[in-house]
Amino acid sequence: MRPSRGDLGVLCRGFLLLLLPFPSHGKDMPLGSTLTPGGNSAAWASPNSTFSLAFAPSPTSPSLFVASVTYAGGISIWSAGAGAPVDSGGSLLLSSTGDLQLVNGSGVVLWSSGTAGRGVSAAALQESGILVLKNSTGGAVWQSFDHPTDTVVMSQNFASGMNLTSGSYVFTVDRATGNLTLRWANAGSATVTYFNKDYNSTFTANRTLSSPTLTMQTNDIVSLTDGTLNAPVVVAYSSNYGESGDMLRFVRLDSDGNFRAYSAGRGSGTATEQWSAVADQCEVFGYCGNMGVCGYNGTSPVCGCPSHQQTEQRQQGATVSDAVAEEAPGGGARGLDPPIPGPVEDRGSFEKRNVFFHLKKNCGMIN
Ligand SMILES: *[C@@H]1O[C@H](CO)[C@@H](O)[C@H](O)[C@H]1NC(C)=O
Ligand SMILES: *[C@@H]1O[C@H](CO)[C@@H](O)[C@H](O)[C@H]1NC(C)=O
Ligand SMILES: *[C@@H]1O[C@H](CO)[C@@H](O)[C@H](O)[C@H]1NC(C)=O
Ligand SMILES: *[C@@H]1O[C@H](CO)[C@@H](O)[C@H](O)[C@H]1NC(C)=O
Ligand SMILES: *[C@@H]1O[C@H](CO)[C@@H](O)[C@H](O)[C@H]1NC(C)=O
Ligand SMILES: *[C@@H]1O[C@H](CO)[C@@H](O)[C@H](O)[C@H]1NC(C)=O
Ligand SMILES: *[C@@H]1O[C@H](CO)[C@@H](O)[C@H](O)[C@H]1NC(C)=O
Ligand SMILES: *[C@@H]1O[C@H](CO)[C@@H](O)[C@H](O)[C@H]1NC(C)=O
Repeated sequence: MRPSRGDLGVLCRGFLLLLLPFPSHGKDMPLGSTLTPGGNSAAWASPNSTFSLAFAPSPTSPSLFVASVTYAGGISIWSAGAGAPVDSGGSLLLSSTGDLQLVNGSGVVLWSSGTAGRGVSAAALQESGILVLKNSTGGAVWQSFDHPTDTVVMSQNFASGMNLTSGSYVFTVDRATGNLTLRWANAGSATVTYFNKDYNSTFTANRTLSSPTLTMQTNDIVSLTDGTLNAPVVVAYSSNYGESGDMLRFVRLDSDGNFRAYSAGRGSGTATEQWSAVADQCEVFGYCGNMGVCGYNGTSPVCGCPSHQQTEQRQQGATVSDAVAEEAPGGGARGLDPPIPGPVEDRGSFEKRNVFFHLKKNCGMIN
């Protein structure tokens, strides 16, 4: 059976669409558009190029690629499939049925927006950093801000029921109380809540919130809003509060399990810490890995394993903090075996003078 002229037209159009790279500079991305690692397709940018969507080398394995929305200068604010990496033959594809799919080189769909057949006609990246899949009348069928990965930027609402994840760490806002919570959740292990805080108990006492939502306000305040509250509750002021300029402000669940507020100047590619939820990094569960001991060398948290002596004392019932509670001379982390190089990154800066030791639940080599 020979295709008719009309069928051929449709076929050709479909074929051409498949070859279209993502258009640049804020134009709508039609069905059939694809984005690939390497230089074969242009990054897709918001109208003023404040944000762009492109593949970038995976932070954990540089031969693989992650499809991310990044702020001018290179700070990632959202990743397709929660940062699932693909090989160089992978792609991000807006299918003919309106589904945004992350596909790896062997053709396996690793993630999709789940919007096939829901009237999506184009995708668009807006100046706020939001990636929208919209229908023919411009209505948003799906938007990336409803599916955050580890970051919440200005104008994004992070509601109770959503999760920020980074490795085994999860950040949530408790629906009933508005408490900010940080948990360590590893498949096969019990979940550990290591941070759970109410930022204004007089305000939230004796009421059940409806849908508390965390926002990074453009005026530099991290706040919590809810339908039952008359005014937003202040969670934190950025330490550069009031400073203006062309910058992005955001909160992020970092890979070290802390939740922080940052600012980044446009084009700088550098995020500067403005606030952290867990003041003592050693309070982050699992920060020093299996059975690691967390301490301070005067300024920064350092990880080590309990020394032989400490292990013996612990076996006799004394805690490590009992054994080495006093400040170590010269700021050295006394009593620690040499730190084990680990996957811990982005430790931030801490103005901690005293040396604290917290024996974490696991330090593999001992016991
Ligand atoms: C893009 O930049 C121009 C010039 O700075 C500005 O006037 C315009 O409002 C910006 N557009 C958006 C969508 O932010
Ligand atoms: C694609 O993903 C599948 C499923 O995760 C995996 O088995 C396969 O090895 C991947 N292929 C490539 C080329 O990465
Ligand atoms: C587009 O989406 C909007 C908002 O979801 C909806 O109200 C509208 O009916 C949709 N239009 C079409 C043509 O489906
Ligand atoms: C958030 O995480 C919880 C527990 O891991 C899970 O049950 C829930 O479906 C997640 N929510 C979203 C929106 O992914
Ligand atoms: C909320 O956080 C406070 C500490 O700020 C804590 O005492 C309280 O138990 C938490 N509430 C819930 C329901 O976890
Ligand atoms: C909460 O309710 C209890 C019992 O009704 C009352 O004693 C307490 O003062 C209330 N707390 C606040 C902050 O309103
Ligand atoms: C906390 O709640 C009290 C009582 O409603 C309110 O007066 C105060 O402004 C709130 N503080 C912050 C920092 O939001
Ligand atoms: C503490 O550790 C940090 C990070 O490893 C290092 O940069 C700093 O120089 C150390 N400080 C001292 C006093 O040893």
